[in-house]
Amino acid sequence: MKASAPGKIILFGEHAVVYGRPALAIPVTQVHADVEISESSRAGIWIHASAIGLHAELNSLPSDHPLAAVIRKFFPRPNTFPSPLLRDPLPRGEGGIEIKITSTIPVASGLGSGAAVSVAMIRALSSMVHRPLSDDQVSAMAYEIEKLHHGTPSGIDNTVVTYAKPVYFIKGQPIEILKVGKPFTIVIGDTGISAPTKESVADVRKLWEADKTKWEKVFDEVGEIAKKAKEKIESGRWEELGELMNQNHVLLKEMTVSSPELDKLVSAARKAGALGAKMSGGGRGGNMIALVTPDMAEAVARSMKEAGAKNTIVTNVS
Ligand code: PMV
Repeated sequence: MKASAPGKIILFGEHAVVYGRPALAIPVTQVHADVEISESSRAGIWIHASAIGLHAELNSLPSDHPLAAVIRKFFPRPNTFPSPLLRDPLPRGEGGIEIKITSTIPVASGLGSGAAVSVAMIRALSSMVHRPLSDDQVSAMAYEIEKLHHGTPSGIDNTVVTYAKPVYFIKGQPIEILKVGKPFTIVIGDTGISAPTKESVADVRKLWEADKTKWEKVFDEVGEIAKKAKEKIESGRWEELGELMNQNHVLLKEMTVSSPELDKLVSAARKAGALGAKMSGGGRGGNMIALVTPDMAEAVARSMKEAGAKNTIVTNVS
């Protein structure tokens, strides 16, 4: 049983999205999380995630461990194999399963690695127990797991990763798939610094609690930018997204979630000819994005590397 899920990147609206404003995000298919489940002769549910040095049996993991929490949705009680959800008994005797998780998505960098692992796990497990789930169900289940990662997630990560389409997202509202009028190109640059989203989200909350009037206004401005960006994407006027990215970056800096490393990549991209650039996701590290014409992509990516990017990805949004 195999399943895969892409990474994602936020184009506009991070942080303000936690406070009900719209945000836009796209899947990044160049990176992905993969899960493979096989039956084995040894008893138990074994999880292997070599990238984080994890090789453990389910029951040895704490209940709030995100990987254990996903599996327990399908195997709710300890030592219950086959799963009580299983419709038809598996043609097998004693034994268990081995779950192998691999991912090319860097962790804690704004590329949705946690959500992608959850979605791939949910899909592989649901097909193993012959319980097909709709995308809505997959996304809702992954959202429960996102809460363990983030505390108060908006739900944008699990949504874009599940549907693997560009989305216009407002917390608590039905998902809206973006219609892209004309394809455009984004360069993603990784600072190589992993920064937990939970912390930057908590810090923005402290600012908001100290002065709600001020921050509600800032979030409104971000929301307006996201709305304009949606119109421009849908009508094919993508060149105009550059200025909106620059404006969004200023507001993210005001929220204290950018960092010197992110700012350096953003200005390198602009100097190299990008139409606009901004940090993306939780911030303080992780990734930034730059809007480019296709012929500029390589030069902009090179300049970002020279300015310290550990990795760059060129992606087309269509
Ligand atoms: O997972 P990340 O780092 O791309 O960012 C999450 C985006 C935030 O708006 C900061 C938080 C959220 O839950 O939407």
